[in-house]
Amino acid sequence: MSDLLDLERRALDELQACGDEPALRVWNTKFFGDSGEVRQALAGIGKVPKDQRAAFGKEANRVKEGLSAAFDAALAAEKDRAIERSLTHDVFDVTLPGRGVECGRLHPATQTLREIYAIFADMGFQVFRSREVEDDLTNFELLNMPPHHPARDMWDTFHTTTPGVLLRTHTSPGQIHVMRQSAPQPIRAILPGMCYRFEQISTRSEIMFHQVEGLAVGANITMADLKGTVQAFARRLFGQERRIRIRSSYFPFTEPSIEVDVEWPLVDEDAIRMTKGTGWLEIMGAGMVHPVVLRNGGYDPAEFSGFAFGMGPQRIAMLRHGIDDIRQFWRNDLRFLRQF
Ligand code: PHE
Repeated sequence: MSDLLDLERRALDELQACGDEPALRVWNTKFFGDSGEVRQALAGIGKVPKDQRAAFGKEANRVKEGLSAAFDAALAAEKDRAIERSLTHDVFDVTLPGRGVECGRLHPATQTLREIYAIFADMGFQVFRSREVEDDLTNFELLNMPPHHPARDMWDTFHTTTPGVLLRTHTSPGQIHVMRQSAPQPIRAILPGMCYRFEQISTRSEIMFHQVEGLAVGANITMADLKGTVQAFARRLFGQERRIRIRSSYFPFTEPSIEVDVEWPLVDEDAIRMTKGTGWLEIMGAGMVHPVVLRNGGYDPAEFSGFAFGMGPQRIAMLRHGIDDIRQFWRNDLRFLRQF
């Protein structure tokens, strides 16, 4: 019992004498380490006569807990002192610049999409969203492409394991959705979203890409309205100087059909690769909505007409910024993304 009291006194004296945190740690190991004195004292209970063991055990626990609390208090006090010392004695450089907050930004694809929305909003087009997982019926059939129609070859398709369910190959099935929701009201809508094609990936083509579909349905809508809309859009986006050209084309869901090209901004080797040597990059297909499609959407073609277009905002961003590889968009390379 007297050994215990002796140990307690000695430990407290030594604790008092500790001048800094390392000294406190040494003290802690000496008394509370695996073979420390406190543990050894507790192990000594076996040598105490049986009738005194309970009293010894009680006392030993009191000493152990007291010393442990004293250590915690001494360590906390030492930490406070260390902070105090550093505040009063160490040099604190208030002129050191702080660490900048890293600032994120919108993906270049999102930036382009938003510019496109803004331009069409000014022309009275509403944004309409439709699904990316489509059925064969809406992606092809209702767009005037019956099963086995050769025009389906224009869209290499990702089919799912569920028969008749596929990843949409274009935003055009959205035309059916928006018409069925709106008929017989006139429509002015754009339908942005991701499309998927089972294609060879190259600098010009990706297996996933955005499209922005446009649809106007009403009385007396003509090809002149389509041309005017496309031209006004291109001027806003690319500036007055950039030349565009309109070629005749074929789509099963428009008649007549056109394609719109924009001049590639640079003349170099990449220009030849990007434009297949023509100097032009196609940005959209378009045309007057086919009567069959109007009828499938719930509009009487004798009363209504309309135009539709589908453009590729990735291609548009490439033309605006001279990006010569479409694969950059989904590669998540910060060296690319930070430039926008
Ligand atoms: N959906 C067509 C495509 O992906 C583009 C298009 C849209 C053409 C609307 C005409 C009208 O190639």
